[in-house]
Formats: sequence, structure tokens, C-alpha cells
Amino acid sequence: MRRLGILISGRGSNFEAIAANIAGGRLEAEIAVVISNRADAPGLEVARSRGLTAVCIPSKGLDRLEYDRLLIGELQKHDVELVCLAGFMRLLSAQFIRAFPNRILNIHPSLLPAFPGLDAQHQALAHGVKLAGCTVHFVDEDLDAGPIVMQASVPVEDGDTEETLCARILQQEHRIYSEAIARVLSGQYTIAGRRVLFT
Ligand code: GAR
Repeated sequence: MRRLGILISGRGSNFEAIAANIAGGRLEAEIAVVISNRADAPGLEVARSRGLTAVCIPSKGLDRLEYDRLLIGELQKHDVELVCLAGFMRLLSAQFIRAFPNRILNIHPSLLPAFPGLDAQHQALAHGVKLAGCTVHFVDEDLDAGPIVMQASVPVEDGDTEETLCARILQQEHRIYSEAIARVLSGQYTIAGRRVLFT
């Protein structure tokens, strides 16, 4: 299981970190395709400049099922074995999840189950937590809810703004996403209920 399909909606810094780790020989995998739902996603250009296949599938005028059917088709066309959501800001249908059972990962900028959904870092600051962080998890049919593969925590400083907290969390995102992908690609794990156990 080595061919990755990466789904983005914007900047694509997590995708870039994964690509850099692959190029640097630190992650044994291949990026088969990068797909964005937004034509203006800066990550698409980054992918092309790295010589990767980058595709935009706009969602305008399509319902979720029609859209997800296109996504599944594109990923299958490129023989993708593991789908990595990297700032992909769309909910996926049950049909999509079933097409890649336990083969979809997501990164979320909070210590789940705290602060699912949008603006997780804003939610963390507003709640006054002292520790924030990020989570890589398998994607199931519920939002930000599947079994957790890895987490990393960072302190929240008194002087933090959303910007400084986002940057501190992002540094950890870039580190743990590749590590989580490597662990999943190794196949050396079992999923027991909600727990991902590494063997
Ligand atoms: C990242 O912080 C990622 O964790 C978050 O979007 C950002 C994308 O940045 N994802 C979510 O909030 C998903 N619910 P990037 O495009 O630079 O990787």
C-alpha cells in the first residue's frame, strides 16, 4: 500500500511536507495524484511544480454523491491505495468512505475529540485550554471522529493569537502526518474498536 492520493482545498502545506519527506527519502511512498475541489488552491501549483499530477474537480452544481463519484473515479484511475485528506474542507459521503475502507486519513488541528469542525484553533483559544495540538485519524462516516492514529500536543501560551497558535500546531502537523502515513503503510497495526494498536 504505497500510492497516495492527496485531497486539498487550499494552501497545501501538509501536502508539501509529505511530498518533501518522500523526496528526501524519509517516507517510502508515492504521490499518485493531488486533487483539489478549488481551482485557486495554491497547493495545486506546488504539486505541479514538483512534477506531480494535480487535478481540480470543482464541486459547483453537483450534489455530494455526484461529486464523490467523480472523486472516487479519479482516485481509482490513479490506483490510489491510501487517501490523505490534507486541509480538504468537504464532508465525504458514506459511499466514498465505503470505497476506501480504513484507507482514508485526515489531519485535524486539535486534540480530538476536542474541537471538531471548523476553526479548531479558534475554538481552543476561546475555550481557554492550556494544551492544544493535532490529530491524524482514520476517516469514518462521522465528522472528525474515526480511530486516532497519532496526536501531538503543544502548549497554549498566554500571549497566543490564533496566528501564533496555528503556526505552533502546524509545525507538529507537518511532523506527525508523514509519521502516521508511514505507520499505516507498514500495515503493522490493528484497529480494536476506537483504538489503533501498533504491532
Ligand atoms: C491544517 O491546519 C489542517 O489541519 C486543517 O486545515 C489546515 C490546512 O492547511 N484541516 C482541518 O481543519 C480539517 N477539519 P494546509 O492546506 O496548509 O495543509
